[in-house]
Amino acid sequence: MTGFEAAKAGGSHEAGMPRHVAIIMDGNGRWARSRGLPRVEGHRRGVNAVREAVRHAQSLGIEWLTIYSFSSENWSRPLDEVQELMGLLKLFIRRDLADLHKANVRVRVIGERAGLPADIADLLDEAEAKTAENTGLTLVVAFNYGARNEIARAVRALAADVAKGVIDPQDITEASIAGRLDTAAIPDPDLIIRTSGEQRLSNFLMWQAAYAEFVFLPVHWPDFDAKAFDEAISEYQGRERRFGGLTARSAV
Ligand code: IPE
Ligand code: IPE
Ligand code: MG
Repeated sequence: MTGFEAAKAGGSHEAGMPRHVAIIMDGNGRWARSRGLPRVEGHRRGVNAVREAVRHAQSLGIEWLTIYSFSSENWSRPLDEVQELMGLLKLFIRRDLADLHKANVRVRVIGERAGLPADIADLLDEAEAKTAENTGLTLVVAFNYGARNEIARAVRALAADVAKGVIDPQDITEASIAGRLDTAAIPDPDLIIRTSGEQRLSNFLMWQAAYAEFVFLPVHWPDFDAKAFDEAISEYQGRERRFGGLTARSAV
């Protein structure tokens, strides 16, 4: 049995399963274009891939799954596409929240909440509140998320605490910054998957990705399925993580 199979069978991250997988769900537009369909059709189909990814993460025993669903830069897209993406988020929460809750999934949302349309902000709050006590997979939805924006907000909070005299500048540590990010209570991602063949971070989890393993898959997001997920995990399990030190394998 390979480590991957053992981990799958055992449903535990201890046998080499990443504890936290983060996904840059990219390629919806190209998926649609290659079929002669409007871009929005790719986004619609992408929602099915989200459902499958959540189900599969649960069956693998992954504890945290973060999905990049709308970046702070995606506002620069044409208005009708932005509206379609907002509409799909609303539809997803309205349709899937009860199922996610039944499946013991806890939903968390990261990204800037201020300035979002009130109906979206309310739905995000509702999803978090309803599932807060669940103990299964935590699904972290990165919505209106940008790492630079997140870091700027954390620095603002830190500066406010310095101004209030709550913290001395000399006492600012990595932990004081990490603790003011949206991901304060979330472990760093072990594995970041990006679909569509692009090999960039696009302002995703820049602080948290310091020691993440990256897997870039050629499939477009609507085609991401359990098999593609397994391939990414398998590739991750073949990597040697060193965190700046030496492992038994590298020290000889
Ligand atoms: C990912 O697909 C979805 C979002 C960024 C919201 P894209 O819409 O970026 O699809 P491509 O990259 O244009 O193919
Ligand atoms: C990243 O994809 C954002 C999301 C997946 C939500 P983009 O398609 O927006 O990234 P770029 O523009 O190709 O870098
Ligand atoms: Mg894209």
